[in-house]
Amino acid sequence: SSKKSDSRGALIVLEGLDRCGKTSQCSKLISYLEGSGHAVESWRFPDRNTGVGQMISSYLMNESHLDDHAIHLLFSANRWEKRSLMESKLRSGTTLIIDRYAFSGVAFSSAKGLDVEWCKAPEAGLLAPDLVLYLDISPEKAAERGGYGDERYEKLEFQQRVAQSYRTLYDATWKIVDATRSMEDVEEQLKQIVMECVLKCQEGKPFTQLWQ
Ligand code: TMP
Repeated sequence: SSKKSDSRGALIVLEGLDRCGKTSQCSKLISYLEGSGHAVESWRFPDRNTGVGQMISSYLMNESHLDDHAIHLLFSANRWEKRSLMESKLRSGTTLIIDRYAFSGVAFSSAKGLDVEWCKAPEAGLLAPDLVLYLDISPEKAAERGGYGDERYEKLEFQQRVAQSYRTLYDATWKIVDATRSMEDVEEQLKQIVMECVLKCQEGKPFTQLWQ
């Protein structure tokens, strides 16, 4: 039927502060979806494996210095270089669970003082997620979780500004999940929301694009 040919995978993004538990929850979602017979892949941004990704990685590890605007554009370019693969995966029926996306790009760069609209501009035209899951935790609580690493942004004061920036990006379509609850509780909640989205995309849901 015509319905079937529109069937596609879902683009699902997890966002949140550093140490909010996103990465663990992404892998739990992958096992869950695989276990229920869905084609699914785990992606993350920055994707440090590309040439652009290596520049980002060395910046984050304080091995290089870049102007705030320049690094912002590299993070965005890193998403653009994956855009066509992303679309073809989704069209072929694979669901993508993505650890960070354009919202991280805007939240982190605008936390440095860059203009929000300027930050959004290079992201316009990327595929819009079918679902954004925000793992909500205060910067203070996140910091208590085994502490931050040594990377550039892993400092309490900066994370507080990032939390503020995320708040200006929320819209009604985001699912805000209390990330201070137990891993199991968070996992259960995410599973339900995610499955609903996967099924909706399977029935055929048009693609939309970010910020246009
Ligand atoms: P990661 O810890 O998830 O690998 O992300 C590395 C850092 O990069 C994290 O502090 C968030 C930040 N970041 C940006 O500043 N802009 C972006 O576009 C993305 C995807 C991440």
